[in-house]
Amino acid sequence: MTRSRVIHRTLRGAPPPIAIAGHGVWLTAADGREVLDASGGAAVSCLGHQHKRVVEAIQRQVGTLAYAHTSFFSSTPAEELAEMLVGHEPGGLAYAYFVSGGSEAIEASLKMARQYFVETGQPSRTHFIARRQSYHGNTLGALALGGNEYRRAPYAPLLSNAFSHVSPAFAYREQRTDETEADFTARLAAELEAEFQRLGPDTVAAFVAEPVVGATAGCVPPPAGYFRAVRDICDRHGALLILDEVMCGMGRTGTLHAWEQEGISPDLQAIAKGLGGGYQPIGALLASARIVDALRDGSGAFQHGHTYLAHPVACAAALAVQQVIRDDGLLARVRQQGDLLDQRLTERFGNHPHIGDIRGRGLFRGMELVADRASKQPFDPALKLHARVKQAAFDRGLGCYPSGGTIDGVRGDHILLAPPYIVSDDEIDIIVTRLGAAIDDALTGITA
Ligand SMILES: Cc1ncc(COP(=O)(O)O)c(C=O)c1O
Repeated sequence: MTRSRVIHRTLRGAPPPIAIAGHGVWLTAADGREVLDASGGAAVSCLGHQHKRVVEAIQRQVGTLAYAHTSFFSSTPAEELAEMLVGHEPGGLAYAYFVSGGSEAIEASLKMARQYFVETGQPSRTHFIARRQSYHGNTLGALALGGNEYRRAPYAPLLSNAFSHVSPAFAYREQRTDETEADFTARLAAELEAEFQRLGPDTVAAFVAEPVVGATAGCVPPPAGYFRAVRDICDRHGALLILDEVMCGMGRTGTLHAWEQEGISPDLQAIAKGLGGGYQPIGALLASARIVDALRDGSGAFQHGHTYLAHPVACAAALAVQQVIRDDGLLARVRQQGDLLDQRLTERFGNHPHIGDIRGRGLFRGMELVADRASKQPFDPALKLHARVKQAAFDRGLGCYPSGGTIDGVRGDHILLAPPYIVSDDEIDIIVTRLGAAIDDALTGITA
């Protein structure tokens, strides 16, 4: 195929190959190529492809009830999915609002936070604080919230100034050599406190962060104590804590929610990718009881909505995905296979002259490429090393998720790996072998 009417991500050159099938962690292209999808697309495919139980659940639902508008009806899969996710009120989260993806979940969380303060007599709370090098989605509210300069730049005149940004909790790039981890955490907390003071603490609605930063920085876990410190600052000033677990949540880091490893919980949480594992487009806003109760006692409704809220087929798919994760003990498997992947990456790249950092949690691992390990100097962005690695990997039958702009939206290259939770030991070996060859291939010519 040389011509396509689809607006693809790249408008130049040949259209991307057609994917015709998937099985387990593998994707098949129309030309017969088999690609090991080591990033589950964009950290989406947590169960791989053709999981029988999920496929059957979708077929059953679509054959029974495809759609019913949420202004008239609820549906059994939506009720059961909500019950499964928040029936036991994890960390105080007690209600779920089902949307069609991550950006929609973020938009809903911003609007629910705002409405909460309007209805509890605090209309002055209009500011949201997030972090540079964060990504929260591409719709205008989510884009304004995010701190990825590259993605924001063309749309800057359309983005609300209700959003401001503090430093990311990105130890490899931000922690000073004379600082301990505790010093670093304290400095970040002081900066957040200063931002509250600059804006006026009673004008801040919420602080928003990814517990483990995904696409823009490449699997960056926080320093110890960071989220306890920000939870404390939010509480002291009466602001909400919104966690974006669209990419790092639903088991990806080895616990169902990444915040479980931080000793805190959010007031509002966005989830998406691993919720439906790619079987259907679905995201969700999870909300604490106090927020939903305030809306119930106030206007009586969340003033929001989309046509495909709580889509029955999407909810049935997500319910089946989450049941498989639970029934097959996949969280333990994420931790086990994540440790193995980390070990294999360290063996292969620990002494590589151009891998500066290997990081992440569970089956959510990132590697940062540097021109010089000692100075951490990145490659010239004009080389587009990340794109070269992606192509070289794809040519070897490996799908991975490299990006540029790791440091500041322009400089820096990283590779993100997020294989399905079912990835085998042998497949991990294939990932590391193919990735090693792809990186060395991409570097040839640049470093020669
Ligand atoms: C942390 C985070 N938030 C939000 C989004 C947006 O999700 P979606 O692309 O489903 O709109 C993404 C997507 O990559 C993400 O990684």
